[in-house]
Parts: sequence; C-alpha cells; structure tokens
Amino acid sequence: MLNDQVLLITGASRGIGAASAICFAQAGAKVVAAARSRDALEDVAARIGALHGTCLPIPADVTDEASVRHLVAHALARFGRIDLLINNAGVGVCGPTERTTLDDWNVVIGTNLKGAFLCAREIIPVMVRQGGGHIINVASQAGRFGFPRLALYCASKYGLIGMSESLGRELAASNIRVSYLCPGWVDTAFLEIFQDDIVRKAIKASPHAIAREILDLATKPRIASRPTFVGKVARLLKRRLQGAATQCETYSSF
Ligand SMILES: NC(=O)c1ccc[n+]([C@@H]2O[C@H](COP(=O)([O-])OP(=O)(O)OC[C@H]3O[C@@H](n4cnc5c(N)ncnc54)[C@H](OP(=O)(O)O)[C@@H]3O)[C@@H](O)[C@H]2O)c1
Repeated sequence: MLNDQVLLITGASRGIGAASAICFAQAGAKVVAAARSRDALEDVAARIGALHGTCLPIPADVTDEASVRHLVAHALARFGRIDLLINNAGVGVCGPTERTTLDDWNVVIGTNLKGAFLCAREIIPVMVRQGGGHIINVASQAGRFGFPRLALYCASKYGLIGMSESLGRELAASNIRVSYLCPGWVDTAFLEIFQDDIVRKAIKASPHAIAREILDLATKPRIASRPTFVGKVARLLKRRLQGAATQCETYSSF
C-alpha cells in the first residue's frame, strides 16, 4: 500500500509509536524508528523483521537538536529519502500547576512541541527537494479541551495543533501535507501519569486502533477541513459500532 515509502517515526519504542511502526511496515513502508531506549527499539525492529518488513532503529532524543540532526542524517544515509514523518514522541505530567516545576515544563514542552518542531524543521527541506511529503503530528483531545491538572500537557498539544495548521498552510505549495490526530484515552504506559480511578476505569482505545487511524490518514487522500458536527457524530457512531472506544478527531491540510 505504501510502496516502499520511507517513514520516520518518533516515540517508536512502545505504545502508539511501536504499534504504528509495525502497522506501517506491514503496509509496505520502510520504517526509521526513533526513541531514546535502544533495546526497546531493537525489539520493535526485530518484530518488523519477523514480519518481513524493513526497520532501521535509531536511538535519538527529540529534545536535542544535535540528536535530531544525527537521526535525519542517518535515515537519509540509509534510505536516501523521507516521505512521511510521524511526530509521536510524547510525555505528560499530571498534577496541580503550582506544584509543577520548570523542569516539568522543559520536558513536556521540549518533547511534545520543541521535539516536533525540530524534526519537522530538519525534514521539511528533504521533502521540498523530493517534491512532497506528509507530516503527521500525534496531538490529543488535550489539545482541544483544557483538562484540569494537565496544564503543561494541554499547552503542548494546543501548541502542536496550532503549529500543524500553520505548517499545513505554509507547506501546501511545496506539496507537503500536514495532518494531526487527537486520540482520547489509549491503553499505553503513558496513562501511568494518572493516579485516579476515572482514568483506570475509562474506556480506552488500543495502540493498534490508533495506529490504524494514522495509517488511514497517511493513505487516504482527504479534503482540507475540520470535521463537521455531522461528520464527527457519524465517525463516533462508526467507532462505537466497530467496538473502538474513543473519539479520534483528525485533520489534514489537503
Ligand atoms: N495514551 C494516551 O491516552 C494518549 C492519548 C492521546 C495522545 N497521546 C499521545 O500519543 C503519543 C504516544 O504516546 P503513548 O500513549 O504511546 O505513550 P508511551 O507508551 O509512553 O510512549 C511514548 C513514546 O515517546 C518516546 N519518547 C519520550 N520522550 C522522548 C524523547 N525525548 N525523545 C524521543 N522519544 C521520546 C518514548 O520512548 P523512550 O522513552 O524510549 O524515549 C515512547 O516511545 C504521545 O504524543 C502522547 O501525548 C497518548
């Protein structure tokens, strides 16, 4: 389906990123899988290898400019091009804002927002040279609604959505599409930041279901728009009927 397109995905060592790396490799993409944990990345690469897919694991820290430069250079040295970028690496902190620290701010904003910026900035010139590409940013429902005790995380995801919509307009003339998606609860290690029962008992999507949403975004041409109210209701109903648990709003620049 993706015919040897090259995907670079961050946060690919576990959760949504690992599921997406596997899903895209099964759809024919050559996958560059990035995260900080080398062993976990190598496990993901081995799982993809066992499925006869191609995966190059590259340890990288998206908060670090030099690390991102090295990641992109290494990917280009191996595959010569990058067609798809999925900015998925993400972290959160949950708690009263007066108890969050500047370190918390730097880690959350640094990973979720600066990290996506650094990766996009490094890869845009590559996509321009190639004549096009697609950048997909994994945002969140926390980028659409200001949940209490999640101020830093919400700030990072609102910022990511703003950056995506701006980049989408900026890069359309270069045939670079920019998309984002806003999952609700997803059953991953990320949820360990929440200590309360509400989250433990909440209906959650599987990382695989979100990976399918991302693949859908990458493979189906869409008209630029925020979903209409009727469209949202139809998608929600479809999801309920399919047994998937959460709303996952998506947007593409074209
Ligand atoms: N789970 C949910 O309910 C949910 C809902 C909406 C949106 N999301 C978003 O979905 C994305 C993936 O989350 P998840 O649920 O799959 O969480 P997860 O299981 O905790 O995975 C997070 C990934 O990000 C990587 N990462 C963290 N800091 C990094 C850094 N500085 N550099 C490179 N990689 C880094 C982690 O790998 P290393 O630790 O190995 O670096 C890991 O692979 C995040 O952007 C999250 O905000 C999650």
